[in-house]
Amino acid sequence: MSTFFSETAWLCLAVTAVLGGAVLCKLRKSPGQVEVKVVCLVGLWGGACLLGPSVFWVLILFSLSCYLLYTYLSGQELLPVDQKAVLITGSDSGIGHALSKYLDALGFTVFAGVLNEKGSGAEELRRTCSKSLSVLQLDITDPQQIKDAYSKVVEKVQNRGLWAVVNNAGIIGFPADGELIPMTDYKQCMAVNFFGAVEVTKAFLPLLRKSKGRLVNISSMAGGLPIVHLASYGSSKAALTMFSAIMRQELSKWGIKVSTIQPGGFQTNITGTTEMRAQLEKSLLDHLPRDVQKDYGEDYITMQRIFLESADKYSSPDITPVLLDIRHAVSAKRPFAFYTPGKLVYLELFFFAVSPTGIFDYFSKKFLNSGKAVPRALSMRN
Ligand SMILES: NC(=O)c1ccc[n+]([C@@H]2O[C@H](COP(=O)([O-])OP(=O)(O)OC[C@H]3O[C@@H](n4cnc5c(N)ncnc54)[C@H](OP(=O)(O)O)[C@@H]3O)[C@@H](O)[C@H]2O)c1
Repeated sequence: MSTFFSETAWLCLAVTAVLGGAVLCKLRKSPGQVEVKVVCLVGLWGGACLLGPSVFWVLILFSLSCYLLYTYLSGQELLPVDQKAVLITGSDSGIGHALSKYLDALGFTVFAGVLNEKGSGAEELRRTCSKSLSVLQLDITDPQQIKDAYSKVVEKVQNRGLWAVVNNAGIIGFPADGELIPMTDYKQCMAVNFFGAVEVTKAFLPLLRKSKGRLVNISSMAGGLPIVHLASYGSSKAALTMFSAIMRQELSKWGIKVSTIQPGGFQTNITGTTEMRAQLEKSLLDHLPRDVQKDYGEDYITMQRIFLESADKYSSPDITPVLLDIRHAVSAKRPFAFYTPGKLVYLELFFFAVSPTGIFDYFSKKFLNSGKAVPRALSMRN
C-alpha cells in the first residue's frame, strides 16, 4: 500500500510539474488583466489543496487546478491581428477615439465612425493614425448614414471581410430625478444608446456572420445597477445589456461571439462642458410643468448638476482598463460575455444582484445619492 502510494505520489508530482510549467508558459502569453483572475483562481485552489486530507489529494487537486487553468488560459490567448477590420462608432472623442488609435497602432484596419467628420476628433484621427484607418461619417440615429457607412466598409474590405463591430457611441443626457428629465431626453438616450446600436448591429451582421467575428457593445455599469438620477441613461443601457445577452445566445450558432462591456466611471467627454450642462439644465427647466417646478423648487433642480460634476471628479482619468478589455473582447480566442472595467464595478453589480432590495436601497442612499438637497414641497412639510 505504501509503495503504491509513493509511486502514485511521484507520478502526481511529475504531472503537477509538467502541468504547472505549461500553465506558467500560457500565463506569459496571456494579456495583463487575465493575471489577476488567474492569481485568484490559484489562491482558491491553493486554499482547497491546503484543506486536502493527504499529500495524495493535495497533488490530485493541484494537478486538476493546473489542467483547468491551462484550458482557461488557452482561451485567453489573443488571435493574430492580421489587419483584421474593426468598425468603432462614436470615435470623435473619449473611449471610441482612444480605441481607434489603439487598435490602429496594433495593426487593425480601423473604420472610425464619427458624429462629425469635420470635427476636431475626426481631424486628429486622420492626422495621427496610419493610412489603414478610415474616418466614416456615422450618426447612428440616421439610417441613411448607416447604409452609406456599410457601403464604404464593404467597398474597402472586399474579400477580407469585417471582423468586429464595437458599438461605442453613447450619450448620458442630463442626470436628474426621473420625474424631472424631459421626454426628449429619454427618447434621445434610447435613440443613441439603444436603437442606434441595434440598427448598426443589424446592418453589419451579414458581414460578421461571414467572418464569424465579434460584436462588442459598450453598455455601462448603470445598465445593471439602478443609480439615482440616471433613469434615462440607465434604462437605455439596461436595454442594450439585455439585447447583447440575447444576441450572444442567438449568434453563437453563426460562430459570432458577443461581449458586453460595463465600465464604471472614466473621465471622458461624456459629462460634457459647463456650457453644455447649462444648456441641458435650461431645457429641463423650460420643459417642466409649473406645478412640478413649484413642488421641487428651482434650488433643488439646479442642484442636480452636482451629480455630473461629482461623477467627473470621482471618475478615473486613465481609460486603459476599458481599452484592454475591449481589445480582449475583439481578439481573445474565447472572449468573456461581460467585462466590468473600473474600480469595484464587478462587486457593485454583484452586490445589487444578490442583496435584498432594502439593504441595497440603504447603501445606495448612503453612498450613491449625491447632495443632500430636498425638494421644496418636502422641506416645507418637514
Ligand atoms: N466615460 C464613462 O465613465 C463611461 C462609463 C460607462 C459607459 N460609458 C459608455 O462608453 C461609451 C463611450 O463614451 P465616452 O465616455 O467615451 O463618452 P464621449 O467622450 O462623449 O464619447 C461618446 C462618443 O459618441 C459620439 N456620439 C454621440 N451621439 C452620437 C450619434 N448619434 N452617433 C454617433 N456618435 C455619437 C460622441 O460624439 P460627440 O463627441 O460629437 O458628442 C462621442 O464621440 C458610451 O456608450 C458611454 O455610455 C462611458
